[in-house]
Amino acid sequence: SALRHSPRHVSARRSISRPGVARAAVFKVAVLGAAGGIGQPLSLLIKMSPLVSHLNLYDIANVKGVVADLSHCNTPAQVAGFTGPEELGDGLKGVDLVVIPAGVPRKPGMTRDDLFNINAGIVKSLVEAVADNCPNAWIHIISNPVNSMVPIAAEVLKKKGVYDPKKLFGVTTLDIVRANTFVAEKKGLRLIEVDVPVIGGHAGITILPLLSKTKPACEFTQEEIEKLTDRIQNGGTEVVEAKAGAGSATLSMAYASARFVESSLRALDGDSDVYECTYVQSELTELPYFASRVKLGKKGVEGFATSDLENLSPFEKEGLEKLKPELKASIDKGIAFANK
Ligand code: NAI
Repeated sequence: SALRHSPRHVSARRSISRPGVARAAVFKVAVLGAAGGIGQPLSLLIKMSPLVSHLNLYDIANVKGVVADLSHCNTPAQVAGFTGPEELGDGLKGVDLVVIPAGVPRKPGMTRDDLFNINAGIVKSLVEAVADNCPNAWIHIISNPVNSMVPIAAEVLKKKGVYDPKKLFGVTTLDIVRANTFVAEKKGLRLIEVDVPVIGGHAGITILPLLSKTKPACEFTQEEIEKLTDRIQNGGTEVVEAKAGAGSATLSMAYASARFVESSLRALDGDSDVYECTYVQSELTELPYFASRVKLGKKGVEGFATSDLENLSPFEKEGLEKLKPELKASIDKGIAFANK
């Protein structure tokens, strides 16, 4: 699979390239919002995964063509399409992992929070359907603002009596992908070896790269730290501005999401060496949701890499304190929406 060659956490990479281990395609994955800018390339990348037996694509429009097109790729996953709320339930039956990139993206000048009003309703109704049809599935939320959408999803699942905090994830992988790329470029390192944890949330200053924890260990000047942090925090806006009204990151996002899907499926498949940064229910700080590196196992989040938050640099400590009120406000806004 092409995904096999993608840069990922070093230990995870070791475990997937173990020779002689044949992995059967056994998992059923659904993409909700599959005909969109992220949904299409993401579905293609998931179709290439050797771990996927069934790929269900759902959107409110244009799904048929995407399904016809993708179904001609001679990889194991069987692709099926579902359109409109009346078909959504069928698209979710028996699904192990649901990825949600449904919703509107940013245009220049917009913050992720400007998307709240439209995307909150979309995510709420989609997660209700997940609760009704595949309550044990892992849920990956891509729709923005992720900082609020995950709390909304959690409230919906709680109301339905099926909330498992170990299986609900906000996808922040693109922040890690960007951090790895920008640091490797700046420091002349081999891309595949660089690993920078990114914690907090997924919007502006809530995106906190921990450059002091970069692997392989490297020295940064204060100026480099400030510039890299700013670029990682605003990488999304860099793309929004370059696309000039045609949307936000879709290809790099699809790549990042496919990496997180592949990591999740490997964990579900019993791989005991899978770590990813993601935005989940958390006790690492006083905030109820927080992004950090977690260990993934068969049942979802199996542990938190607590040492990532120890021995932070003064710059990172300050960044952490600064992001807390903003992240808290986004969490509260999501919870209030779900309970209104
Ligand atoms: P897009 O507009 O190209 O695609 C969105 C798709 O969602 C469309 O096909 C649309 O028909 C579909 N959709 C709308 N309402 C729906 C519903 N009720 N049920 C199912 N499908 C529905 O947008 P794009 O570029 O794919 O972005 C999607 C979301 O991902 C945006 O909210 C964007 O902000 C977010 N995003 C998140 C990132 C992250 O790092 N977590 C990075 C980049 C984007």
